[in-house]
Amino acid sequence: MEILQTQVAIIGSGPAGLLLGQLLYKAGIEHIIIEQRSADYVSARIRAGILEQVSVDLLEKAGVDKQLKEFGLPHTGIEILTGGEKHRIDLSGLTQGKQVTVYGQTEVTKDLMQAREEANLTSFYEADDVKVYGFYGKPYISFNKDGKFYQVNCDFIAGCDGYHGICRASVPEDKIKTFEKVYPFGWLGVLADVPPVSDELIYVQSERGFALCSMRSEIRSRYYLQVPLTDKVEDWSDERFWEELKNRLDKESQENLVTGPSIEKSIAPLRSFVTEPMRFGKLFLAGDAAHIVPPTGAKGLNLAASDIAYLSDALIEFYTQNSEEGINQYSEKCLKRVWKAERFSWWMTHLLHRFEGESEFDLKIKQAELAYVLGSHAGQTTLAENYVGLPYEINNFQAAS
Ligand code: APR
Ligand code: PHB
Repeated sequence: MEILQTQVAIIGSGPAGLLLGQLLYKAGIEHIIIEQRSADYVSARIRAGILEQVSVDLLEKAGVDKQLKEFGLPHTGIEILTGGEKHRIDLSGLTQGKQVTVYGQTEVTKDLMQAREEANLTSFYEADDVKVYGFYGKPYISFNKDGKFYQVNCDFIAGCDGYHGICRASVPEDKIKTFEKVYPFGWLGVLADVPPVSDELIYVQSERGFALCSMRSEIRSRYYLQVPLTDKVEDWSDERFWEELKNRLDKESQENLVTGPSIEKSIAPLRSFVTEPMRFGKLFLAGDAAHIVPPTGAKGLNLAASDIAYLSDALIEFYTQNSEEGINQYSEKCLKRVWKAERFSWWMTHLLHRFEGESEFDLKIKQAELAYVLGSHAGQTTLAENYVGLPYEINNFQAAS
């Protein structure tokens, strides 16, 4: 048995845990990361790829924006395709110049892992049987690695262990409330080394269901199709995928679509989920451990980043100014932004997908709502300001607003 001591013990080495580690390191606060999977597994996971400006700013503050600045693609607009016609939402024009950056979460994770390696920071990968204890008093963690038992004594625990993690599950039932909505369809995603169909993302509302044309670079595309939850990846050959995508697109996009062999194909369910509160004594939940959004608004990674902005700031304030103010406000501040992003993601999902059992009336109302949004400056502005990311303000981090 080995006993370790640190200031902040971070559970989970996804973007939330890694970013927190990097920001704490920069501020001279001791921490370690404990992750149940291997480093190779963590750095290969394919996830979404849209960064709000505030997330880009935070990565810059963490000193991990070199690749992002070089390879990230700034986007000043998105297209919405409905009734066979594309409508551009001028994100920048509608939000005083704000934009989003297309840069894969896989790359964000790799950049953070590399920075960690360069700084020689401690991570325990492939940790088994991770457990958290004593977070209403003296917190500590235990885990096994390579047949050895470890105990980590710490001041705080950051639960960055995703939706299926153990941190949220360790909170006594009477201290936690969860809110959930599960959607009756999934997204079939394909990654392929083909040039994107368009310079900008296209969100597609069609009779045949939702589709999304996204990208990772000028030569790598990411496409999605709404599919029934009963579908299996094996049901979808590449040929069938491209055929169905074409069927959901407009004429111009059909002509521009370049197809090719998929390099990744998977089906993800859609879920909205929020945990209240997000702090339990000395245990903080952040990122997917605390909330899930359906990917339609591209908010998952950005919400994880804003939690970490609040949490890192609160911890830095605690250690440098001996103030508990940030810690005490953590949950409330996060949840305000989380619920707004939940609403936006739910709304985008609702508006753009076909739901089984939807009546013709429901469909007409939805089409009218979309026509209103697209045809109104106010409607477009609402969409744009949510898409580029709502502002947040914290003491040591000046968010773009
Ligand atoms: N012990 C240690 N690590 C764990 C445990 C455990 N019991 N359970 C889960 N983990 C690890 C997972 O293996 C994963 O590497 O915690 C990490 C959580 O990472 P993510 O799921 O990527 O969550 P987060 O860092 O909050 O990132 C949020 O990921 O799912 C997307 O849309 C989401 O983009 C958002 C981002
Ligand atoms: C992606 O590129 O994977 C992506 C982009 C936008 C979304 C969801 C996913 O809304």
